[in-house]
Amino acid sequence: MMRPGALEGRTIVITGGGTGLGRSMAEAFLRLGAKVCITSRKIDVLRATADELGKATGGTVLPVACDVRRWQDVEALLQQVLEAFGRVDGLVNDAAGNFISPTERLSSKAFETIIGIVLMGTVNCTLAFGKHWIKQGEKDKTVLNITTTYAWTGSGYVVPSACAKAGVLALTRSLAVEWARYGIRTNAIAPGPFPTPGAWQRLLPGDLAEQFDMAKRVPLGRVGEHHELADLAAYLVSPFSGYINGEVVTIDGGEWLKGAGQFNMLGALDAGMWDAIERMVRGVKN
Ligand code: HXC
Ligand code: NAP
Repeated sequence: MMRPGALEGRTIVITGGGTGLGRSMAEAFLRLGAKVCITSRKIDVLRATADELGKATGGTVLPVACDVRRWQDVEALLQQVLEAFGRVDGLVNDAAGNFISPTERLSSKAFETIIGIVLMGTVNCTLAFGKHWIKQGEKDKTVLNITTTYAWTGSGYVVPSACAKAGVLALTRSLAVEWARYGIRTNAIAPGPFPTPGAWQRLLPGDLAEQFDMAKRVPLGRVGEHHELADLAAYLVSPFSGYINGEVVTIDGGEWLKGAGQFNMLGALDAGMWDAIERMVRGVKN
């Protein structure tokens, strides 16, 4: 947890900020004194969230409708934020679209839709805000991208999302170097499973959430809690992380490494089985 007032004087825009993890980050930033703009396609959802978060935190929340796939929407978003707050210091690219499907059942349009939201949406917002900061000669700005661990492992059944998130990771590391000279830091968070209605309804519909208990995939034996990710995000958009640039911070309880390590399945063996195994292995003579 950051100290109170750690984000005072800073204005941060969160795409996808009306729901799920975006909303949780908005709440955390507000509690630390930031002014926040939340944006997505559904203005009614954004207004309700802005109202609730404003009352809960006493902070200033601006809801703005914007489809991140549309460059004109993104330019208008930036103008509205500047008119309301006079400045913008941070951009969190959280908006995403995703659903599970065997890849051979997907149309080209389905790929285009997910890549459009996740990769082109992140590109559009980053480009618009970055151009503004560079033109103004403003320093000490941050872009924080929300990616996933399958950005580098890949994953079946969510292939458009995996392709798009891999692109977001490449964008993060590329701009971290290219735009550092302008005082713009670019980092990413790769979350493991954090239950949200948006993700769970599309990735674990029906009884899949019980059939494939995500907590069992995680060495720590549980899913993530929103405040854990929101606290990390607050640190990464704050000046306290001023020397962190180009980093992707994984917050998944060890989930992806468990899948990656060749012998990690042996965690299923109990002590008695290990006694027997040790006898067998020590008994090998050749
Ligand atoms: C196959 C599908 C499909 C499905 C849509 N399509 N759903 N194909 N199976 N279940 C196809 C459509 O047929 C269409 O192609 C194309 O995709 C676009 O669909 P639309 O419904 O027109 O798109 P749109 O209205 O823009 O909605 C976008 C959406 C929707 C992504 C499909 O789910 C959405 O609005 N999602 C936003 C929120 C979200 O997804 N949150 C989860 C993020 S979680 P055709 O060819 O028929 O026209 C996340 C977690 C990662 O990223 C890691 C978790 C551990
Ligand atoms: P979520 O609540 O469904 O968030 C997705 C948000 O994106 C919604 O607020 C949605 O709002 C917005 N959005 C979708 N299409 C948009 C568009 N074209 N333009 C603007 N906004 C758009 O899901 P979440 O679980 O909180 O996910 C948040 C982020 O975390 C995503 O980047 C996701 O990939 C990542 N993530 C989540 C998990 C997890 O376990 N939950 C794991 C790894 C990564 P509208 O419908 O109003 O547009």
